[in-house]
Amino acid sequence: MSHKELAPDGPGAKEDPSAEARSAKVDKSPAKIAGMFDAIAGRYDLLNTVLSAGLDRYWRRRAIATLKLTGRERLLDVCTGTADVALGAARRATGAARVVGVDFSGAMLCHGLEKVTQARLSERVQLIRGDAMDLPVASASVDAVTIAFGIRNVQQPGVACQELFRVLRPSGRLAILEFGLPVVPAVRPLYLWYFNHVLPRIGRAVSRNTSAYTYLPESVGTFQFGDEFARILTDAGFSHVKSRPLAFGIVYLYTGQKS
Ligand SMILES: C[S@@+](CC[C@H](N)C(=O)[O-])C[C@H]1O[C@@H](n2cnc3c(N)ncnc32)[C@H](O)[C@@H]1O
Repeated sequence: MSHKELAPDGPGAKEDPSAEARSAKVDKSPAKIAGMFDAIAGRYDLLNTVLSAGLDRYWRRRAIATLKLTGRERLLDVCTGTADVALGAARRATGAARVVGVDFSGAMLCHGLEKVTQARLSERVQLIRGDAMDLPVASASVDAVTIAFGIRNVQQPGVACQELFRVLRPSGRLAILEFGLPVVPAVRPLYLWYFNHVLPRIGRAVSRNTSAYTYLPESVGTFQFGDEFARILTDAGFSHVKSRPLAFGIVYLYTGQKS
């Protein structure tokens, strides 16, 4: 089975190497990933809405809600992209008092900055350029951390999780959203067909970028989701780690705490 084709428990899965080994085969060098997001930044929000039928907004709201913000927190949104989680967390009535969004794609941040300005939240939401594996943030300085649909792109997810742990203050909370694969037998083949064949075509046509929406199923197919990723979080030091499948497991919400 080609690692480009998502079907981890399909024919050929037994001889397929571990998710870790497959992940190593996908080029996730910062230059490649940042360049890819730079290239699609202008169409990223539109494509998110189209390809997820608007569900992406619900998933982000759900992730923010698990943090139980009170209006006083300082939140760090890593891989912030066009700042949807950063803005979502700052907009809520009892949202974060201050939000810092970090991303290494300058073009994604530019679009995010426009949205922050339009929302008149520039005083509370700051976007900075940086790498998830080496966060430009002081240790134990934030109350909550989030990553939405970013961790699977990071070259060494374990290193990024250690960084999240480092910057959180004791008893600070974590919420991570990332794609998984549906476990329900009736849904799985249909989803894999959509994800492998329909989604890349729409993505390529709308973004006018050939590689980004070929990379998307590749990156999801090689990401260690569910219990495997929960273990990475536990190894990084997080406690109360939970992994919840959303929408039949298309997406997983991971939560944890630094205690
Ligand atoms: C799929 S987008 C998600 C954006 C946003 N969080 C959302 O929910 O729409 C992934 C983002 O992660 C960023 N990213 C990937 N790896 C990164 C890393 N190692 N450090 C910083 N940003 C990274 C990319 O530049 C991109 O903007």
